[in-house]
Amino acid sequence: MSHHKVRITVNGTAGEDEVEARQLLVHYLRETRALTGTHVGCDTSNCGACTVLLDGRTVKSCTVLTVAADGGDVLTIEGLDEQGEMSPVQQGFQACHGLQCGYCTPGMVLSATGLLLEQPDPDDDAIRTGIEGNLCRCTGYDMIVDSVRWAAAHGGAGTAATAHAAHAEGKH
Ligand code: FES
Ligand code: FES
Repeated sequence: MSHHKVRITVNGTAGEDEVEARQLLVHYLRETRALTGTHVGCDTSNCGACTVLLDGRTVKSCTVLTVAADGGDVLTIEGLDEQGEMSPVQQGFQACHGLQCGYCTPGMVLSATGLLLEQPDPDDDAIRTGIEGNLCRCTGYDMIVDSVRWAAAHGGAGTAATAHAAHAEGKH
């Protein structure tokens, strides 16, 4: 089994690790970097629970090999707050009751954050399109849409995600 050295920055912290060629980014984040906020919800690339930002774009981290993220910059749910204060999207989910069991929430929050980076003022249809790759068993989605709309009106993607996207832009 081949191993490869990778250098990946996660939530602003650089790391150099040796990983198996077949390892998925979601397992690297959870097991090697001990960031278990990124969830695994399916075996089919359908649920979106594993969504993170990679170089400024949302990806399902169960569809990305760790070696493919070599040199990359990842933002996970653990990196979204700013000096202990939740990001606007996180606050929106709290204010509008956008979660119940919470299993889908990290992925939903990252997808919504990615949407607001691209479209700061999305209408409800755009919000639903932005989160269509994320499944929720609990909420019926209406409160999630309310949460994203709340975030759009209260700071959007937030400073951590905006800085991450700007840094990624500088690399391209
Ligand atoms: S774990 Fe379900 S899409 Fe990645
Ligand atoms: S809040 Fe339970 S799956 Fe979405």
